Amino acid sequence: MRTPIMAGNWKMNCDNEEAAALAKGVVDAVGQVADCQVVLCPPATALTTVAECIKGSKIQLGAQNMFWEEKGAFTGELSAKMLLSCGCSFVIIGHSERRGRFGAVAEDFTEELRRVFGDTDASVNRKLKAALAAGLTPIVCVGELISERQAGMTDAIVSDQVRAALDGVEADALPDIVIAYEPVWAIGTGEVCDAQEANRVCGLIRKVVGDIGGASRAEAMRVLYGGSVKPDNIDELIAQPEIDGGLVGGASLKADSFAALVNAAAK
Ligand code: 13P
Repeated sequence: MRTPIMAGNWKMNCDNEEAAALAKGVVDAVGQVADCQVVLCPPATALTTVAECIKGSKIQLGAQNMFWEEKGAFTGELSAKMLLSCGCSFVIIGHSERRGRFGAVAEDFTEELRRVFGDTDASVNRKLKAALAAGLTPIVCVGELISERQAGMTDAIVSDQVRAALDGVEADALPDIVIAYEPVWAIGTGEVCDAQEANRVCGLIRKVVGDIGGASRAEAMRVLYGGSVKPDNIDELIAQPEIDGGLVGGASLKADSFAALVNAAAK
């Protein structure tokens, strides 16, 4: 049996005061929950604040991004070692927003401006390897755009992203990696992917991993679903055999809704 994970990706929300209040709310509600790993991923500026708040609970800390080098002239970047020193044990890598693959965005968000978010398959692969080498658990995000789904390319896009992310990774490390299937069109839109379809794509991801490193390692890996996960759709999602938990944006910003998701996964 794989232990489920419920990870809250707070994205660019919460100053330190708000982060402390939210983290304390989560600790009060589900700080000692068994049978589900709970991960909070606040913005980098709030990592140490949240680390302090979750002390003594079972909740774990994750970052939303990292750079692959250990140190040096990389203005604005953070290394795995720095994240570890803040108390992180997880790191999200290659979120579609960091890859510049947004769903609906404002009209003035031009291609040029999107390049500020620069992750590619190659950078995701480097970050993944650096995270593993440092002992951080990577949560690698993959998922198709609505245009790609409509063109019947979902399976090819997701499989290619998984293969590229895992390129050159030791087979024995595969069970230590978490992959999150996040269809871009379902992120922040309220339009959740149908549970059976999410299950099918998560199963496809596990098959691709199995082809790379063997079925038993793929069976041990956690595959999450992300995209408009809410208390009213979690039961159907978590009941799917290939879905081992959620990567949650909006519903992780309120302690009570996030706690409801954790409790559903821990059942
Ligand atoms: P929402 O839950 O707000 O759709 O965000 C999902 C997500 O991108 C989590 O990483």
